[in-house]
This record gives sequence, C-alpha cells and structure tokens, in this order.
Amino acid sequence: MVTIDNKYLEKNIIKDINRHQEKINKIHEMIHNKSGLGNDYMGWLKLPYDIEKDIDKIEKAAQKMKNHEVFVVIGIGGSYLGAKAGIDFLSKSFEKKNPEILFAGHNMSSMYVSKLLEYLKDKDFAVNVISKSGTTTEPALAFRLILNLMQKKYSKNQIKDRVIVTTDKSRGALYEVALKWDFERFEIPDDVGGRYSVLSAVGLLPLSVSGFNIRKILSGAKRAYKDLSNPELSNNSCYQYALYRYLLYKMGKKIEILASYETNMRYFNEWWKQLFGESEGKMNKGLFISSVIFSTDLHSLGQYIQEGERNLFETVIQLKNQNEEIIINEDKDNFDKLNYLKGKSLSYINNMALEGTIKAHVEGNVPNIKLILDNVSEESFGYIVYFFQKACAMSAYLLKVNPFDQPGVEKYKKEMFSLLGKKGY
Ligand code: PA5
Repeated sequence: MVTIDNKYLEKNIIKDINRHQEKINKIHEMIHNKSGLGNDYMGWLKLPYDIEKDIDKIEKAAQKMKNHEVFVVIGIGGSYLGAKAGIDFLSKSFEKKNPEILFAGHNMSSMYVSKLLEYLKDKDFAVNVISKSGTTTEPALAFRLILNLMQKKYSKNQIKDRVIVTTDKSRGALYEVALKWDFERFEIPDDVGGRYSVLSAVGLLPLSVSGFNIRKILSGAKRAYKDLSNPELSNNSCYQYALYRYLLYKMGKKIEILASYETNMRYFNEWWKQLFGESEGKMNKGLFISSVIFSTDLHSLGQYIQEGERNLFETVIQLKNQNEEIIINEDKDNFDKLNYLKGKSLSYINNMALEGTIKAHVEGNVPNIKLILDNVSEESFGYIVYFFQKACAMSAYLLKVNPFDQPGVEKYKKEMFSLLGKKGY
C-alpha cells in the first residue's frame, strides 16, 4: 500500500545502502525484541493486534456519541493529531459531518475558545477528553471551560452521558475527574506514547464517531506490520525510507519537507511532523521537519525550495488512485487558452505537476524520495500510519536517540508555570 521510488536520489546514496544492512538488522532486532532506548514505550509495535479486544467497546461508545449534533475532541499533540489527520484524510471535502467533529485543547487562544463556547451554547454536544498524563495544561483548561458550559446546560446525568475520558488506566488528574463523575473511560496503554497512540482509543474513538470503519484501519496497520517485518532493505520500503533520510542528513541535508498534492493530507502532514520532530530532535541531532501542500505552496515556499539554501530534501507522497475524477471540458471560445487540456483529468494534471516539480527540484539539488500510496481508504490510512511509526523508530535509532521521550517539551512548561505562579515552579 506504500511503495518507495528511489530513482530521484543520487546514485551514490542508492548504491551505498547495502553497506548498512547489518546496522539495519541490529536495529530491527532491537525494535522487535524491545531492547532499545525507551523500550518501555514499544506498545505501538503490536497495537493493531492488542487493541482488538477493545474494538466492540469503542464502537459501542461511538454509536452513542453519534446521536449528538457536535462531538468535541479535546487533546493536544499525540492526543489529537492522529484523529484529526485520519478524519481529514478520509472525509469528503465540503461534506457536512453528522455529528460535526470539533477540536479543542490544542491551543490556548481565547479567540478560538470563546468562539467555540459560543458555538456550543445552542448545540447538543458531547465530549471526548484525551490526555495520557491527565495534567497537560491546554486540554485541562479547555475541559474545565467546556464542563462549566455543560453544567449550565445539562443535568449531572446528561453530562455523564456526554463525556468520554481517554487517559491513563490508574493515575492522573483526568483519571480522578473521570472517577468522580463516573464518566465512561478508555485506557491509553502504559507502553504507548502520545504520538504513537493513533491506533489506540485515542484515535480510534473519534474516527469511529466520524463514521469510519476502524476495523479496516486496523487491518491496514496489520498488513503493514506483516509487510514490514522483513529487515532486508530490498524488501522493506519503510527501512529504506529511514535509511535514505539518515544518509541525506549525514550529507548535510538537514531539512526534510513532506510534500503532498492532496489538500486532505494537511493534517496528516501535521501528525507526521509531530511524530518525527518530537521523536528525533534531541541531543542536538535530527532533521528539521517541515511540510507543504503542492501545488498551493509552490506559489510560496516553492521558490525557496528551488533556489534557496541547499540543505533540504523532499519526501513526496503520490496518491496512485483517486476516489473522484473530474475531466476538463472543451470551451468553444478558449479565452483561457486551456483547450490543450481538454479531456484530461484534473488528477492527471496534478500528477504532471508532481512529476515536473520533482524534476525541477532534483535539478536544483533537492533530492527527492517518492512514496506511493495506493488510495484514500481506511486500510491505507492504517497502513501509512504504521509505516511512518516504524520508520520513525528506525530513524531515531539510526541517530542513536530515544524515539519515545520528549524532554525538551518540558522546558517551556517550566518557564510558563513559573510565570503563571504555579506552586513549586
Ligand atoms: O507525543 C507525545 O507524547 C506528546 O505530544 C503528547 O501526546 C502531548 O504532549 C499530550 O500529552 P497528554 O496526552 O499527556 O496530554
């Protein structure tokens, strides 16, 4: 479901890869034996199988939530990006969702939150609050404000029926709140970190409320598990991708840009940035991660990518099969001079933009890795999520950093808490 095309990489990188097979084998063993850095967070590896026991419960809870007009998902970082990425990837553009899915707790903008509260005032809404630690400031604040609104609108029993908590199985402030109110709870496994949690209740519950078949998502992820279990580079597109980006980094290409030509992948890009940025950027190492949606961003960042500093490479996701097709019509006046495109599909034209851009960027010394995704479906979403999670673990281990911690994120929190006068800071 995800294949790699390396023909746009320099020959010396491609011919070099077999030299690294032994290192890849060792890291593969480390991943599968759970013996590397951060090994108590390896639950993602078999998560598509381990989560099966919870699927009935997730689907049942989702079914109940579908009765409301709006479903608000509260969370930040790994506690919201996977669900948002999946919902946007799978939804049809301009389709009105029922229930409408809104997100909160991923910022502290009073403009955003006040407008959200105002919007919810007259709506029948339910909430899924997601936080593994249960103490993250942004979602905790949003939940406090939304619960306050609920208390004005609904009885205690109505609130109980409208809130689902996804958090640690036995600790944290959110866990305590859930017990106090007797909210329905979903557990985030101890060994699954935030950015690796999309295939747990964290991502699957909102995706199921959104009407997507989460069993198919898991079957795509399981297919990826099987396809990517052979460490041989010639058979493993995920490890090839991890190795290419590592070798490019070593050559001085310090910035990786993920490029997609589909607008429904904007939040997939955000999920990917969090996965790689938070996993690798530590100990003064790691690629700086960025993303673009082409051809939109060819009219902004495209200039820099073509002619700016030569420290970048691109990973381009090409969609092989479109779900919808549109054919360019002939116009008898041809004022816009576009009749040369008559009869061509828009996706063909988009694809020519992709091929042409890769050619131009490679000529401009921006190496390209092309990943080809079969289609837009639940299975392909599960597959590509798993693909990048495993690639990220391999990449971080190549750099000799712990893929599963994020010590740097704590620094801003300390400074912010001290400015806000929180006890102990
Ligand atoms: O990947 C991570 O671990 C983080 O991005 C977390 O998901 C994010 O900080 C939210 O944490 P929590 O779920 O504890 O509120």
